[in-house]
Amino acid sequence: MSPKTSSENIVHTHRLDAHNTTILFGWVTGIPEIIYIGARLDDGMDVEMFARSRARPLGHATMDEHAPVSMQPEIGAGFMGHPGLVANRVDSDKPGWAGIFEWVETAETDDGVTFICRDDHRELRLDITVTLCRKSGVAVMKSRLTNEGADDCMVDWMSAPVIPVPQHLSEYLHFHGRWTAEFAIDRRTVPMGLVKSENRRGRTSHEAFPGTIMLAPTTDEESGRCLGVHMGWSGNHRMVLERMTTGECQLQMGVLHFSREGMLPAGRALETPEIHVATSDVGLNDLSQRFHRHVRENILKLPDAKKPRPVTVNTWEAIYFDHNIDALKELADAAAKVGGERFVLDDGWFVGRNDDTTSLGDWTPDPQKYPDGLHPIVDYVVDEKGMEFGLWVEPEMVNPDSQLYRDHPDWVLAVDPYPRHLGRNQLVLDLTNPEVFEYLYTVIGDLLKTYRTAYLKWDMNRDLVLPGDRTGLPAVHRQTTALYALLDRLREGFPNVEIESCASGGGRVDYEILKRTHRFWTSDSNDAVERTRIQHGFTHFLPPEVMGSHVGPAWCHTSGRGFHPDFRALVASYGHMGLELDLRKVSDEEFALFAAAVERYKADRDLWHSGDYHRITTVDADLLGACVVDAEQRSARIVMMQIDRPRSIVPPTIQVPGLNPNRRYKVELQTENKVAMHGSRKFRNRLMDGRLELTGAVLMSAGVQLPVLYAQTGVALALEAIDD
Ligand code: DGJ
Repeated sequence: MSPKTSSENIVHTHRLDAHNTTILFGWVTGIPEIIYIGARLDDGMDVEMFARSRARPLGHATMDEHAPVSMQPEIGAGFMGHPGLVANRVDSDKPGWAGIFEWVETAETDDGVTFICRDDHRELRLDITVTLCRKSGVAVMKSRLTNEGADDCMVDWMSAPVIPVPQHLSEYLHFHGRWTAEFAIDRRTVPMGLVKSENRRGRTSHEAFPGTIMLAPTTDEESGRCLGVHMGWSGNHRMVLERMTTGECQLQMGVLHFSREGMLPAGRALETPEIHVATSDVGLNDLSQRFHRHVRENILKLPDAKKPRPVTVNTWEAIYFDHNIDALKELADAAAKVGGERFVLDDGWFVGRNDDTTSLGDWTPDPQKYPDGLHPIVDYVVDEKGMEFGLWVEPEMVNPDSQLYRDHPDWVLAVDPYPRHLGRNQLVLDLTNPEVFEYLYTVIGDLLKTYRTAYLKWDMNRDLVLPGDRTGLPAVHRQTTALYALLDRLREGFPNVEIESCASGGGRVDYEILKRTHRFWTSDSNDAVERTRIQHGFTHFLPPEVMGSHVGPAWCHTSGRGFHPDFRALVASYGHMGLELDLRKVSDEEFALFAAAVERYKADRDLWHSGDYHRITTVDADLLGACVVDAEQRSARIVMMQIDRPRSIVPPTIQVPGLNPNRRYKVELQTENKVAMHGSRKFRNRLMDGRLELTGAVLMSAGVQLPVLYAQTGVALALEAIDD
């Protein structure tokens, strides 16, 4: 008996290309399958022949037809793994729990395609859309299910288009973390069977970033194959990674629904969030650069794309709730003097807010602290000091001890009669309630109209527990889309205001919130060692210009550790830099050091924020850093951080990534780290007097010798081409 597989019978194919990527789809009569996603294939290739070459033998003791990992694998087709869609008709007499979609039509657009499929028996329509960004090669995919029947359909699980993972990508990066330790990474082998990662916190979460990178065992930052997927979604989510006995591996990502959240009434449609998919054959840095390009091209919409990311001085770790107009003016003086360009008034400015137990929801200035409203400080910052003014808000929240809650105790997410669980003494407002939505739009809009505010720090400091709407039904999905709608409306009304997405630091970091905001508060940890690790993880999917990075106080309040000022400044200097400490109280020497770091940031920020970003890892796991190279490969900058005890007295050489091998570069030390230099005896290296000149080829393969670096010290290097 000859083996028979669906691939053998493939009759339809479709091809999408970017300069560096090709995606091929193939199908027989049902839902299309991604039969290839990876490096660009030659134009003249015979796609049908390729599709047929995917034909697989059937093993014994398997069904007579192989059910492929289509973009929505189906129980009804005999797929034995985790299905892409689990749905049922609630009150129908038809058996709606399983079925088979038939492909109906392919609709092409300039940069993508929509496959339209139908299951007439279940009266469901499925649209699967894939667009491919020509510039970055990142594919954006989503699925839409329409209930064409007369009765409700309950969708328990619906994955965004399912990615078949090639078998050679047998490992994956699992992104996890917690508050002040975001973007931690475990490199794991894909086990046999199924792995799930889930988030029920009601925001993107510190714990489970909705993304992963599949990679080969030999892949590292600068070489090897990998495939990254991120789902842009700021609510509950689930990722399913499954390696099956057929040898296939599938990756699913979708919204995690609480019971009844997936109710799809007759005539309505349910859309998955977008997943963003990239591949590379030359390592994780190239993959990240594709994601960074995609963010720059398609996700991040700055009011003024040409404006450099301003140096931000934030009041939180300087004064906390202790607001006083004279102290704030002094702080603004110091902020302007150090080179600050944006002054952000953090928590503590609104009525009665002297600690974190009261007042969220009452968004008017505290009359004791600000008898004349915020005008005096806004005017001082803007007119006298020439900085932008930024304001902290946490609109989604309310303290029980607030006028808003006293007036509207029914405005919160809750399931009565169960307890209203507090987190940081606060409850979550029900954004699905139109009255709440209007209140928030009005109150935030009024602040923006009243005060010359260039920037909102939009905070969100607790998880959602028992998130029921007015009727008690679970509302995380609708709360998430309502938040997007609120931000969209504010953005429309106030298009010049930039917004920071902060959720106790890095609790809401994803592409969908980034479409409506302009940077992230990466973490509440300003501990420079933790920050180095967090920033390392963050840059896998996100570029440095959206990575808020501040110089914190000498002693970090979230870790209890202290670091030298130059190390703190170095770690803050390659993202979107800011300072968040009491600048009035630092020594003259420290102040000068911070001012110099700010100056260096200003000189180099265009490069860091537009170039190709490389993470640098070394044989010493505690020596890591970052490098940026401009598109013409003329300029590069490197920062290296020795975050813990060095492995050897003298550090390993640093192979510089991404240069032009044929150019000569001048290499200079940008920072002088006194503590570290103590350890470098007789370091008569040309690096030290600015006379080091080597070709890109040498710098990339042999590398640069660094001075001795003590634990928690580091250096910054500048490379400039000198031959043309
Ligand atoms: C949490 C944020 O992450 C901090 O930066 C600060 O804004 C506090 N909230 C204020 O309450």
